[in-house]
Amino acid sequence: MSVALPLLQVERASVRYTLRGAGLLAPARSLDALSDVSIAIREGGRLGVVGESGSGKSTLARVVLGLVRMQSGRVAWEGRTVDYDDAPAMRSLRREMQVVFQDPFGSLDPRMTAGQAVGEALQALAGPVASVAAQDRIRAALSDVGLASAFANRYPHEMSGGQCQRVAIARAIVARPRLLVCDEAVSALDVSVQAQIVNLLHELSERYQMSLLFISHNLAVVRHLCDDVAVLCRGRLVEQGSRDAIFGDPQAQYTRDLLAAVPRLPGAPVRNY
Ligand SMILES: Nc1ncnc2c1ncn2[C@@H]1O[C@H](COP(=O)(O)OP(=O)(O)O)[C@@H](O)[C@H]1O
Ligand SMILES: [Mg+2]
Repeated sequence: MSVALPLLQVERASVRYTLRGAGLLAPARSLDALSDVSIAIREGGRLGVVGESGSGKSTLARVVLGLVRMQSGRVAWEGRTVDYDDAPAMRSLRREMQVVFQDPFGSLDPRMTAGQAVGEALQALAGPVASVAAQDRIRAALSDVGLASAFANRYPHEMSGGQCQRVAIARAIVARPRLLVCDEAVSALDVSVQAQIVNLLHELSERYQMSLLFISHNLAVVRHLCDDVAVLCRGRLVEQGSRDAIFGDPQAQYTRDLLAAVPRLPGAPVRNY
């Protein structure tokens, strides 16, 4: 019997930031932002990572994306250790692993139309694509995120926050990544728009068997979207399990406290946490 390897594994990742001392002679201090954290995501799976502000969620995203060095631990992609120093390997991994950040305006170039922004990502990730084919793929990516092709000519300042975030998602998915890392990707949006973007991410994940590493301090959103949940507290994993286990029968007091503070997502049924 063969058991499929997870698409992504993070094994015992530890990250320590060095903080400069306050004065000239003050000693440097260090902060353990992540201590021995392990997670795994299967192909098509949606893992939510929750925890208060400062718990290490973004640091975990940076580890996966290779934006920060681990003190120890490893990341594996389909079972193979990722070597973040191997530039050619990273180029091909970047096609498979994309990211959407929090700030919908900040992540777009104000001088580029939505179509140009998506086209630029396509070129960067897939290499030169014949112009007619590129136009088709740009239109398809915009349609995938629920934007009519007329949006291709709009600039960020001509779009709402939700529409900008849809363009950011179109950029991220245009070359069909297998994993989308979302770091607080809906947190800056109005609550009603959050629900639309969450539904969109769910649809895209199902349609393309695209895995999600969905990082959010908002547990209601994670409950709506993810099948598995990892709970971080001060850089440590306090609990990890299926959505039903974490929300229905949380084991750690920290998780119970987090759940007790959750507002409801509008339109979602009332639940007793
Ligand atoms: N570049 C950095 N240098 C020093 N400390 C940092 C840096 N980035 C984050 N931190 C600290 O590491 C901890 C975890 O931060 P972060 O991963 O951003 O948490 P979260 O995303 O859950 O809010 C926090 O205490 C934060 O202040
Ligand atoms: Mg963060």
